[in-house]
Amino acid sequence: MLLAGRLQPAEIAIDGEGRIASVRRTQTGAPRHDVGDAVILPAATDLHVHFRDPGAEGAAESIATGTISAALGGVGLVAEMPNTVPPVTSVELLEEKARRVAGRAAVDVALNALPRPATIPPLASRAGGFKIFLSPSPPIDTVPSLDELPSLLAQLAPAGLPVTVHAEDPQRFRTEIVPQDPPGWGRVRPPESERQAIERLGEAPPGLRLHVAHVTTRDAVVWLGARGISCEVVPHHLLLSDRSGPDARWKVNPPLRSETDRAALWGAFVRGEAPIVASDHAPHPPSAKEGDFAQAPSGMPGVETMLPLLLEKVRAGELPLAVLVAAACDRPARWLGQPVGRIAPGHRANLVVVDFRSRRPLAARELSTACGWTAFEGWTAIRPVEHWRDGVPIVEGGSYVGRPSGRVVRPEFAPGATPLVEAGT
Ligand code: DOR
Ligand code: ZN
Repeated sequence: MLLAGRLQPAEIAIDGEGRIASVRRTQTGAPRHDVGDAVILPAATDLHVHFRDPGAEGAAESIATGTISAALGGVGLVAEMPNTVPPVTSVELLEEKARRVAGRAAVDVALNALPRPATIPPLASRAGGFKIFLSPSPPIDTVPSLDELPSLLAQLAPAGLPVTVHAEDPQRFRTEIVPQDPPGWGRVRPPESERQAIERLGEAPPGLRLHVAHVTTRDAVVWLGARGISCEVVPHHLLLSDRSGPDARWKVNPPLRSETDRAALWGAFVRGEAPIVASDHAPHPPSAKEGDFAQAPSGMPGVETMLPLLLEKVRAGELPLAVLVAAACDRPARWLGQPVGRIAPGHRANLVVVDFRSRRPLAARELSTACGWTAFEGWTAIRPVEHWRDGVPIVEGGSYVGRPSGRVVRPEFAPGATPLVEAGT
């Protein structure tokens, strides 16, 4: 397993509560489970999923299906976004969503709320975090302006919860362009609109746990890192460019960028400059992606393929395993204040087993996500063979065998803990 940044043989003792008791070269005790020369990693935490639950009619995912998809992809904890139907703007709506997790979720779920000045204080004691959309994102059509942002952030700071921002400034969108393909979509929502929104975050109050979703350029990653603001990069901006696919399945917000921008973002990720990787799993039904590009919704599924695609990059020698584990497992777990994401005593035994020889092309028909398609069809990937949750297998032989034992989790931060997520490993 990966210990102190190196792959080395070791045995993990798990206590009766499903926590890691110790990690040693050899352990005594029974029962024992031998994974041979496969690699044990901490299960990943995905800070960015849209499970559409509650959703509009015809929604292509639910908390039940999305969390099984997560489990199969080696993700043991997800942060769910509040642009469900209706958006999560009140304690009542948050609790309604929490009721959909209990008895239905395969993995743990942190629930983000949408901040409205009047409901921030009551939501602060119940939510797992806040998500600010600076550009409309269905079904959210009213968003704060960049001038209103500093006051909103100031109101959020006392809550102490993680605040995630979708940073695109709609004032910079070139709405006169009718996009026909991904390059056209990139012209409508250019990198300048992202930069403009991100730069306003420099005015955020100190101490705010601030995180920027799906950053698409290396410059933005570096700018945020220099100011101690967390951010995530997502597999589609890391692996796909605006020339990767012609139709609306490759339409996402923010858009796919040029190959030059993609390569620079990937380079930043490989060097450990981007603190976190998340999927922005946005499962739209295939029918919504057919037809007119301009009218199609943005987003693509990803929670089940994020780790498998990046593990293949590790196998190919293009990505250090320690960088991946820090960005996919350790830092996002710490961001949510959860005792997962590390193979260390006291952490929950939420683990995945990876066999780097079991590489296979991705095929949508073999994926569990209810939306039934992937933009990565045919890409070689390494899917986890096993996934353990609190010391109990929920994936065996690559198949889901768990029960819906997922819970709603909220951040547990040690008093005085620093909000800063430092990049680099
Ligand atoms: O492409 C996207 N799809 N970006 C977002 O920010 C939202 C998401 C969705 O909910 O479909
Ligand atoms: Zn999103």
